[in-house]
Amino acid sequence: MPKAAAHRSPASPRLVGQRAFWNRRYRGDPELFGAGRSPFARWSRDVLRRAGIRRGVCIELGVGYGRDLRYLQRCGFVVRGVDASDVGVALARRRRRPAVLRAPEIVLGDAVSFLAQIPGQSVDVVYSNMFYNMDFTEAEHVRLFTEVARVLRPGGFHLYSVRSTSDPWYGRGRRTGPDTFDLRPHGSTMHFFSRAYARQLGRGAFSSFAREDRLEGARDFPIRLLYAADVRNGDPAPENRPSFSQASMKARSARLG
Ligand SMILES: C[S@@+](CC[C@H](N)C(=O)[O-])C[C@H]1O[C@@H](n2cnc3c(N)ncnc32)[C@H](O)[C@@H]1O
Repeated sequence: MPKAAAHRSPASPRLVGQRAFWNRRYRGDPELFGAGRSPFARWSRDVLRRAGIRRGVCIELGVGYGRDLRYLQRCGFVVRGVDASDVGVALARRRRRPAVLRAPEIVLGDAVSFLAQIPGQSVDVVYSNMFYNMDFTEAEHVRLFTEVARVLRPGGFHLYSVRSTSDPWYGRGRRTGPDTFDLRPHGSTMHFFSRAYARQLGRGAFSSFAREDRLEGARDFPIRLLYAADVRNGDPAPENRPSFSQASMKARSARLG
């Protein structure tokens, strides 16, 4: 895939909305979440070390301006990333790196189409920080987790942080779906995760390796995150494969009103 390629699948109105929102935010502050790596990147490195994984291919979803991508590269991984914001991607590509490291491949586009082009079982780690909270429906989360499971080798790691349903911002703004609120003008549409939802998305393909609840953010803007590290299982026989049934999705929607 050429480095400067953008994914050509037609952008949905929600993706266009995400792009406009994040372009504005990164133009306003090119280091919106801080200059260095995120606390979650450090946690992820420690988890991977504990599991004996120090190198390999790492994919980052929603790289933003590239703060964690560079860190993961410095930790020893061959990294590739994707983001929907052209301002973010341009900043990430320009980010300084030690001369010995190659420029990582950073693609402008939608994460699902990006993942769809990656061969199965070719990746050691899929990483994302506050990415799954974006304006995704449950069906899109299922698609994303299914793609992540497909590209990861058995024993590979899925590491992600998400704003959780105990976040102080949960329930504010206009509700647009289960656990999803339009936080404008304070933020974008946000899909908050419960532990049960994270478990449901990973069921079958993943086993939980580590979970942690964290309080982060600025003093006047505290946020609550769930850190998750899941290991890709080997594939069971087709007849034993659990599926994400329509019934379980509907039950969640009904339960959460
Ligand atoms: C909360 S920001 C986090 C950025 C980065 N992970 C960090 O911690 O600095 C979420 C990012 O997800 C990107 N994004 C939203 N929807 C996307 C999609 N469908 N595909 C790829 N990136 C997306 C946004 O452009 C934004 O940069």
